[in-house]
Order: sequence, then structure tokens, then C-alpha cells
Amino acid sequence: MDAIRIENLVKKYGGVTAVDGLSLSVPAGMVFGFLGPNGSGKSTTIGCLTGLLDPTAGNIQILGQRFTAESAALKRRMGVMPETLGLFEPLRAHEFLGFVGRMYGLEETTTRKRVGELLDALELTDGSKTLAEYSTGMRKRVAFAAAVIHAPEVLFLDEPFESIDPAGVALMKQWLHRLVEQGRTVFMTSHVLETVERLCQEVAIIAAPGKLVWHGDITTFGREGAISYDGKEFDALEPLFLHLTGEKHVELGWL
Ligand SMILES: Nc1ncnc2c1ncn2[C@@H]1O[C@H](COP(=O)(O)OP(=O)(O)O)[C@@H](O)[C@H]1O
Ligand SMILES: [Mg+2]
Repeated sequence: MDAIRIENLVKKYGGVTAVDGLSLSVPAGMVFGFLGPNGSGKSTTIGCLTGLLDPTAGNIQILGQRFTAESAALKRRMGVMPETLGLFEPLRAHEFLGFVGRMYGLEETTTRKRVGELLDALELTDGSKTLAEYSTGMRKRVAFAAAVIHAPEVLFLDEPFESIDPAGVALMKQWLHRLVEQGRTVFMTSHVLETVERLCQEVAIIAAPGKLVWHGDITTFGREGAISYDGKEFDALEPLFLHLTGEKHVELGWL
């Protein structure tokens, strides 16, 4: 089954087309990497897939059902860590996560237990600071906790690992592996291609404005070796990504 199906997604911001007819299917039960250069339309696509943005045109199906920004029941089965994090800054971490748990319809005792476990594991137990007073990495940890507190069936993560320390990243990866073992689906963006290569089973690469340039299984990189494209052989994600999105060599005379 496909966890996510995107058909001809278009998103315009006024006169600017950020995503121009993207179609993509994401199988359930895997970590799926959604890659592309800065400004290629990744965050816009995630916004449309999670109801944070209204698509200009196109169809989205999640877990076999048509998805719109009004799909309340479906949203409870989804989690999202948006680029902007979506935190409510005046709150403390436990207050914010308690609010998120209630919003997802978790029971009070379940919420309290999960908030405690998440804050312990993510080392956010100092409750004296508000989210506005947290460091970037700490705020990211809270946003990640908010995205997983209801054990979503489909989890959207927009650059989840950037600014998180190695121990935090290792913990988050453990939890992502656990989610997909249970048949759940993770749809994530990242520019850290080594991490993507180790974590993701399939990858889609887009170029501005939200155009699919490649979609494939990348698990062969570690095992059988190379992936062929354009008559060339690629033995890792980075050279393939650079080939597809345009590698530049620029010499600055003064550097
Ligand atoms: N709120 C906005 N208003 C106008 N243009 C936007 C807005 N958000 C994004 N864009 C434009 O849409 C394009 C895609 O942006 P984005 O989806 O954030 O890319 P990515 O996440 O891949 O870096 C860019 O050209 C960006 O300038
Ligand atoms: Mg982005």
C-alpha cells in the first residue's frame, strides 16, 4: 500500500510557482527521503501534505484517503515537524507537549506518561525555561517530540537532524527505525546525504519548481553497488544528487 500519493500537486505563492505538477507515490513501512536543493519546493510540498498550506491544485491521498487541510481524523494519524517547528513559544516544554497530546486526543494519563518519557530521553527535563528561551537544538528536540507523541502512522520531518547533536540524532534514528518496523512511514527532507543513504530505503530528488528528477530504491548503494543513470554509474547518493541537480565549479580569484 502507498502511505502517500501525490498527483499533479501545484502550489503558487501569488505569482511565484513553488511546486509545478509534482506526482509521487510513497510506499508504507519505510523511511522515504525527499531531497532537493535549497528553494526547490520541499518545505512547500510538506506544508501541502500536512495541511499547513493549501495547495493551488492537485490531489493528495494519505493512508488511502483523500487529504485536505480539513481532514481532521486523518491528521490525528499523522505527525509533522515543520521547517518552522510550529512551537508555541511562551510555554514550557512539558506544557507544550501536554497541549499537543490533548490535541491529538490522547488520554490525560497517557499524555502525562509520554511527555515524561520523551522529556527524559531527550534530556529536556529542566522545566524552568520557556521554549522561547531554549537553544535551537533544544527547540528542535521539542518539535520532534511533538511530532511523535501520538505514534503517528505517517510522520513528516523537514530537516529533522540539522542543529541536533550526535547523541540526539542517534536517538531520533532509533525511534524512526522502530516506527518503520511497525509498518509506519517516515517522509523526510535532509541535506545530509550520508545519513539519508543509511536511513532511507527510497529517495525522490526534486529540482525547482518542485519537479521530480529522480525516484528510486537506494538500498543497493551499500550492497550490489552502483545505480545507473544517463549512461553513468553512481556508487553513492552524493554524486548522483550532484549530477541530477547540477554540480558547480567556481574559482574566486581572490580566495
Ligand atoms: N511564503 C512564501 N511566499 C513566497 N514565496 C515562497 C514562500 N515560501 C517559499 N517560497 C518560495 O517557494 C520556493 C520553494 O521554497 P521551499 O518550499 O521553502 O523550498 P525548500 O524547502 O526546498 O528549500 C522558493 O522559491 C521560495 O522562495
Ligand atoms: Mg525547506
